[in-house]
Amino acid sequence: MDLRLKGKNAIVTGSAGGFGETLAYFLSSEGVNVIIADIKEPEAQKVAKRCRENGVQAYPVKTDLTVGSEARELIDTAEELLGPLDILVNNAGYWPTNMVVDIPYEEWKKTVDINLTAVFLTSQRFVQKIIGRQGKGKILNITSQAAFNGSTTGHAHYAAAKAGVVTFTISLSREVARQGITVNALALGMVETPMSREALNRARAEYEKRIQIGRIAKPDEIASLAVFLVSDCANYYTGATFDATGGMISR
Ligand SMILES: NC(=O)c1ccc[n+]([C@@H]2O[C@H](COP(=O)([O-])OP(=O)(O)OC[C@H]3O[C@@H](n4cnc5c(N)ncnc54)[C@H](O)[C@@H]3O)[C@@H](O)[C@H]2O)c1
Repeated sequence: MDLRLKGKNAIVTGSAGGFGETLAYFLSSEGVNVIIADIKEPEAQKVAKRCRENGVQAYPVKTDLTVGSEARELIDTAEELLGPLDILVNNAGYWPTNMVVDIPYEEWKKTVDINLTAVFLTSQRFVQKIIGRQGKGKILNITSQAAFNGSTTGHAHYAAAKAGVVTFTISLSREVARQGITVNALALGMVETPMSREALNRARAEYEKRIQIGRIAKPDEIASLAVFLVSDCANYYTGATFDATGGMISR
């Protein structure tokens, strides 16, 4: 199937590693020019180099998404580098562990800043730009099964932020649907990435028990749906959250 992605311009936040890296690489292999936006600079440079080997433009942009001005400016910087953007993937995430009784305020704030507030800030600037030029665009927000299940293992702040992403996705999708902008979310279950490494080393069997398929996902077996959702083949999908959880949630 031709996804008609060749020549599009995309930002993937948090793409210096993990799921975002795989997604940025998959997009580049479909001919999409990509901005590798991440706080980790040398790693982002390496990912951009890999993407360029697919014959596209790819630039690392060092961004700390906890800083409001940096999250907003990311969109402007990306357009200076690539030209008008077509696709924004809000993928960067932060998953600290603490039971509610022990969560320091700063940890709560950082978790909400990265997982939710940054999604608002980048999306706002992105839709301002697209509406300003009467263009079309695609936003995909990466959320988690925790948005629906909550957390049992010390991630209440993360689950709350990811649930916020789901309803923000619905609300924004309604506001911009008639302007040719789609906004969807993809809820991941448990995926082999640097984020989950420590938890999986400690309690892999416990996590596997909660997954109907019985194993942890590899990024490259779930990134294909994300690629589809930011393509013009997905123009009729908006306001939806798709589950890539191996059956961890069934809705
Ligand atoms: N791995 C899982 O099991 C899992 C499960 C459910 C949801 N998710 C979600 O999937 C997405 C990708 O997660 P992952 O597993 O690849 O995580 P990861 O930690 O491996 O990668 C996240 C990336 O975000 C970047 N990042 C973190 N804070 C940042 C900041 N302040 N500014 C800019 N970049 C920042 C990191 O440097 C990193 O490259 C996240 O939104 C995560 O919450 C992951």
